[in-house]
This record gives sequence, structure tokens and C-alpha cells, in this order.
Amino acid sequence: MAWRGWVRTVEVEPSLYAADFAELGNQIEQLLDAGARVFHFDIGDGHFVPPVTIGPVVLRSIAPLIHRGGGVIDCHLMVDDPAHHFPELAESGGDSVTFHVEAASNPGVVIAQAREHGLGVGIAFNPGTGVEEAAAAANLGADLCLCMSIVPGYSGQELMEDAYARIERLRALVDCHVQVDGGVNDDNIEAVHAAGADLLVVGSGIFARENLPRAYRALVEALG
Ligand code: DX5
Ligand code: ZN
Repeated sequence: MAWRGWVRTVEVEPSLYAADFAELGNQIEQLLDAGARVFHFDIGDGHFVPPVTIGPVVLRSIAPLIHRGGGVIDCHLMVDDPAHHFPELAESGGDSVTFHVEAASNPGVVIAQAREHGLGVGIAFNPGTGVEEAAAAANLGADLCLCMSIVPGYSGQELMEDAYARIERLRALVDCHVQVDGGVNDDNIEAVHAAGADLLVVGSGIFARENLPRAYRALVEALG
């Protein structure tokens, strides 16, 4: 079963969107050696979010490396019509797909479509979307619910202060994993975890640092 067995109480997920793409394989290997097991992979279509980010071609190149190292790939789909991408992402080595509740008029159907491809599945929601709406969608059978702590699109933004209250509300409304994405760093990761998140996505808080393994381990240690 997807996600069961992937989470060691809490996971710090390196967000590969923030990587140096000339060094991608090398950076992934360093993080696998440092203990990272769940890698976050951001797919943006230039429509649901302004930028086109990375997609199946890159996924196909790195999936064998991550799987050989015992890791999994958690795809965050910042796209319209997410189900359209499921077959190709599954074939390219993606392990789970998280789609935005704002991009799905019938989330229960989209969850079922992800399962048909053997994928784990999550529901994401933007800062402007009601927590209750997202929780209701996640309770249709998702493995995780992703509370965005920034407006999605770009790495390197600051975590919005109202995220803590939204995480707490979400934690009370769902049984699945609670993920947070955007502006998580070593100053706030403990507070984000304490608010109820067990999947902590970190982009620039790892990749903008000089020493990636040290940055990853410092985040894990900050969680106790
Ligand atoms: C942006 C992506 C994030 C991003 C996080 O919308 O969804 O995963 O890479 O980067 P940081 O941690 O720098 O905010
Ligand atoms: Zn993301």
C-alpha cells in the first residue's frame, strides 16, 4: 500500500525543484546517503501556476537512482486536469501523485484514477482555499493532505504565518498524513511539525545551502 511503510514517523522531503539541475543525480545521491527517502517532485504546467517546472522526462532519468537507494518519489501536480498526467507519471517511475483540490471538480473520481495506476495519492490546497473543503476531499480516500504554506509556483518564498493555524485545523479534520510545502527551514520546521505536519517539504532550505547532507541532517535533528 502506498505511503504505508514510507514514513518513519516524520519525513523531511527534499524538493527537487530547488536543486541544481546540472548536478541533479549527484545531489540526489548525497541526500540518499544522508538518509532522505521521500523526494518531492514539482510539476507545474504554466497554467495552474505561472511556471513550467519539471516533468516526466526528468522523472524518468532520476527514478531508477532514487528507487535503487530505497527512496520514493512524491509528485506534486500544480496543473489543470491532473488525471491526464497519471499514466505517464506512473510509467516514468512516480510513486505518488498529489493534485490540487482547486483543479478537480470531482476529487473522489480523480483519487480513484490515481489508484488505478497503482499510485499513492494526495490532495493539495492553496492558502486561499478553505481547510474544510480540502479535508473533505482528502477524506474520500487520500494518503495525504498538502497544506500549501506559500502561493505555489516558486521555491524560495517565505512561509505564511497563517499556515500554522491551517495545519492545526487540518490535523483535526483528517486521518491521513499532513504535508506542508513552502518556506520550511531549520528555524520553523519544529513549529510546523508541532502544529501537526508529518511530511515536511524543503526546497531552498536544503538546496540553497553549501553542504546538502548537513542541511538535511540538521532539519531531521531539529525535529528531535
Ligand atoms: C513551489 C513548490 C515547492 C518548492 C518549495 O510551489 O511546490 O515544493 O520547491 O521550495 P521552498 O522550500 O524553497 O519554499
Ligand atoms: Zn511542491
